[in-house]
Amino acid sequence: MSSQNIYILGIESSCDDTAASVICNGKILSNVVANQNIHEEYGGVVPELASRAHQQNIVPVVAQALKKANIDKSQLHAIAFTRGPGLMGSLLVGTSFAKSMAYGLDIPLIDVNHMQAHILAHFIEEDGYEKPPFPFLGMTISGGHTQIVRIDDYFKMEVIGETIDDAVGEAYDKSGKILGLGYPAGPEIDRRAKLGNPKAYRFTKPKVDGLNFSFSGFKTAVLYFIQREVKANPNFISENLNDICASIQYTIIGILIDKLKLATKQTEIKHVAIGGGVSANSGIRQALKDGEKKFGWTTYVPKFEFTTDNAAMIAIVGYLKYLDEDFAESNVMASARLKL
Ligand code: KG4
Ligand code: ZN
Repeated sequence: MSSQNIYILGIESSCDDTAASVICNGKILSNVVANQNIHEEYGGVVPELASRAHQQNIVPVVAQALKKANIDKSQLHAIAFTRGPGLMGSLLVGTSFAKSMAYGLDIPLIDVNHMQAHILAHFIEEDGYEKPPFPFLGMTISGGHTQIVRIDDYFKMEVIGETIDDAVGEAYDKSGKILGLGYPAGPEIDRRAKLGNPKAYRFTKPKVDGLNFSFSGFKTAVLYFIQREVKANPNFISENLNDICASIQYTIIGILIDKLKLATKQTEIKHVAIGGGVSANSGIRQALKDGEKKFGWTTYVPKFEFTTDNAAMIAIVGYLKYLDEDFAESNVMASARLKL
């Protein structure tokens, strides 16, 4: 089998991005994402609008992924799709599409766990990117999740810490909303943080036991702080926006790094890989790098296009499962709360 070219189509539709990717023996041939700008004016993802947009996007996105990969659908060996976790209406679009396409082509169907995919994205063959050795710790930070995972093998993973309320991306986006920034606010806060003083304002870090996280108290702290300051000076936000962003980012990074330090200490595992939309953050990337000297860990950061939601990560899991002949039944169902 190894001398043969194995082509897998990956499909991702768990939230507000419709994505498709073709992988050949671990190398990505195409990675197409259609973002849904429609949610911007609502300041967050509207599930009903998301599933409708997925329905409109999925056929052209898949067609484009095949075209960019320069292959015909008849050359595909299997179709991998995101089974969950995510928004039910969104997942259903990708699931039904993948099922009918696999059935039509008479090839295997492979179900993929979205959170597992964020981690296994590190195993995409990519020049200049090293793969983490087992065992390693994965920190998945996105708009929907914040987890620390122990990974002993491709499909042997255990969540050892996670948020008990909001995800870290929500902390960014909700803080941004309070500051009047657009959605999602993470990239804008990141950009402004580089121009401001991270120690201008202090936000207390939540006290959560062990390796778990909490971000809902942080968001409230930001809200009360801003309300208080704006009462005294109506121009407080516009006059100090970069410093506010830098201070918010400094606190969030501190929370993440503290838990990661504890996790490497508890598990004695020194290889750390990050994934998810927030891993695009320049401050987190820098703090992880700085930690290599300070804490003796080795860090792995995926290529930017594989950090936010994408189908390349679904395709690599599809490829790994294909090699194991780990296929889905034709009656497999989407699962909004699928666990690792
Ligand atoms: O993984 P993702 O694309 O979708 C989810 O599965 O949620 O992550 C989206 C999240 C948003 O909350 C967005 O604000 C955040 O990732 N994000 C960032 C940055 N780029 C995206 N947060 C902080 N800094 C960034 N540079
Ligand atoms: Zn995600």
